[in-house]
Amino acid sequence: MSQKVTAAITAVQGYLPEFRLTNQVLETLVDTNDAWITERTGIKERRILTGKDQGLSTMAAGAVKGLCAKRGIDPMEIDLLICCTVTADMQFPATANIVCDMVGAKNAWGFDLNAACSGFLYGLTTGSQFIETGKYKKVVVVGGDKMSSIIDYTDRATCIIFGDGAGAVLLEPSTEGLGIIDAILRSDGSGCQYLHQKAGGSRRPATERTVEAREHFVYQEGKAVFKFAVTNMADVSAEIMEKNGLKSEDVAWLVPHQANKRIIDATAHRMGLDDSRVMVNIEKYGNTTSGTIPLCLWEWEPRLKKGDNIILSAFGGGFTWGAVYLKWAYGG
Ligand code: UT7
Repeated sequence: MSQKVTAAITAVQGYLPEFRLTNQVLETLVDTNDAWITERTGIKERRILTGKDQGLSTMAAGAVKGLCAKRGIDPMEIDLLICCTVTADMQFPATANIVCDMVGAKNAWGFDLNAACSGFLYGLTTGSQFIETGKYKKVVVVGGDKMSSIIDYTDRATCIIFGDGAGAVLLEPSTEGLGIIDAILRSDGSGCQYLHQKAGGSRRPATERTVEAREHFVYQEGKAVFKFAVTNMADVSAEIMEKNGLKSEDVAWLVPHQANKRIIDATAHRMGLDDSRVMVNIEKYGNTTSGTIPLCLWEWEPRLKKGDNIILSAFGGGFTWGAVYLKWAYGG
């Protein structure tokens, strides 16, 4: 009898640019202060990708190269690469294609996936289908954003939150019941009004006027987004636990999207988890959109044990949100 094939994460790698944008530096750019930012968001500094002509692909390719080296595979073995982002190098072609070329993944095809801060969860769930069907043996899911390219550094409500970074995971088949067990993904396009980029798309192409009006930056109604995020991220995390018969003591780790420490705390509280089982690095990197969850997994990787029950959870622009339940597939 053939065993059920699941999609296991078999390696994880991050990429963080060197330059640190601290709260102290932001104090010199906008009317804000370290105490306000720390108390309202939990963020102390973020990384910024600097240098001419450096786009998301710089970070994504860095993460994917490191991933292959770590797992000891040739990039030629990659079947599919999914690049989750809202800050693609260009409108087209897809950054996935550029990354495949940069890392030498000549046998792979790929595509970009835009689900804002839930991008990595959408990508992980999509990628896992190709493993579960037996179609592919090696799928790379990379999530990352160069948020600094669409942030208005005169807008104190948004520039304090976001940063740059990327992380990648390799998905391979498991016959031990490890890897992605379940996912609940949701979206609600009516949330678009609260969080979007007004111009630069087909509805409102770039003109001198759109640039003057600063319409190529992130527009966010923070308070409204906060309310939806707190409720939906907590609800979906509790829902996936209930659906899979998991009690709080069964969950080894919550890996929450890092948008605001208060949203993370509300989600953990709802799941009955104390701080010791919640991955939080928002103070160092801020909100890297699709990058937050793989960057957490990368940082905590040495502490993860084979069989650990892990819940990934996110909420973001769209609106999009969701939770993924996985069993970690390797130790230390
Ligand atoms: O990544 C996925 C989607 N995004 C999110 O999940 C983000 C969700 N939203 C948030 O995290 C929060 O709403 C923010 C961090 C963006 C803002 O925090 P808040 O506690 O919701 O602040 P607020 O917008 O309600 O503003 C409170 C006050 C206002 O002043 P008044 O009107 O009370 O006098 C703001 O003008 O704080 C003021 N304010 C600031 N003060 C100092 C707003 N930004 C700043 C700032 N420094 N940077």
